[in-house]
Amino acid sequence: MRDAQYHHQESFWFEFQTSSQQRYFSCEKPLFKGFWFPSWLFNSVLACQKHFQAHNSDIILVTSPKSGTTWLKAILFALLNRAKYSNPNSEQCHPLLTRNPLVPYLEFQLYLQQEDPNYATFASPRLLATHLPYSSLPQLVRDSKCKLVYLCRDPKDNFISLWHFTKKIMLKENGLSMYGPYWDHVLGYHKMSLEMPEKVFFMKYEEMKEDPCVHVRRLADFVGCPFSEEELRGGTVEGILRMCSFDNLSTLEVNKSGSRWTGVENKSFFRRGEVGDWANYMSAEMGERIDGVMEEKLHDSGLKF
Ligand code: A3P
Repeated sequence: MRDAQYHHQESFWFEFQTSSQQRYFSCEKPLFKGFWFPSWLFNSVLACQKHFQAHNSDIILVTSPKSGTTWLKAILFALLNRAKYSNPNSEQCHPLLTRNPLVPYLEFQLYLQQEDPNYATFASPRLLATHLPYSSLPQLVRDSKCKLVYLCRDPKDNFISLWHFTKKIMLKENGLSMYGPYWDHVLGYHKMSLEMPEKVFFMKYEEMKEDPCVHVRRLADFVGCPFSEEELRGGTVEGILRMCSFDNLSTLEVNKSGSRWTGVENKSFFRRGEVGDWANYMSAEMGERIDGVMEEKLHDSGLKF
């Protein structure tokens, strides 16, 4: 992807900030196909469904907000572009060290910007992101051979992360989680990952934290970019993980002082990056209540957090 694309997007977000701050902070969330969408996002979701022409080579990262999207965006970018930036430890040249975001959201960015965005500057394979539930994906995404990487997270940590984020950016909330219900979002992709494992790769933040090397290798296999023996021996996986680590990314100048979207600062996307932080903010009883709801909702799926 070339610089022009990002400069264009940057200027859009600054304009967008002033023209639509009111709408962005609005808490209205209509229900669409069983999920809550902010009203200001609606036209963009519809435009994306209508116009997005999926390519078989596309790789689309799907998450619920606050599930670790920033982390996996960085990992996927580094993984797919590793030949181009053959030394992932070279602090001078890798775009991840100076730019954020590098992976644009479909409905949350590209189709807010234009009804029918031009993808001419995107390198192949196109790496894109979305928060859309499976049922709201453009039909062509579902019908094509493009690959979906889904990342989810323990809902308790997700909730606490979202709570901090909304406080930080002064977003007024109305108790309905954006793109929720959370369990239906997760279940939609979990089901598809079982039915079409070649299309949907299902990941958990906690598993990534526990054994990132194993999961990044699986991810590389899934996106058709497996690590060679030489790369494995040479520590390429570890290099990518080091570069994309919370400690590294959160201390980069671009992430300490840069901003995006409606003026939201990049640093808002880096808080603690830990598993189980919910326990510092919720009582055990509150945690149990959330676990109880999740067990009830997920019990047929075999999925556990
Ligand atoms: P916490 O608020 O629990 O710290 P998203 O990118 O989907 O908005 O998710 C943000 C969450 O991912 C935040 O969680 C953030 O700290 C965490 N995060 C960001 N970068 C990360 C990284 N490189 N490694 C692990 N977690 C990261």
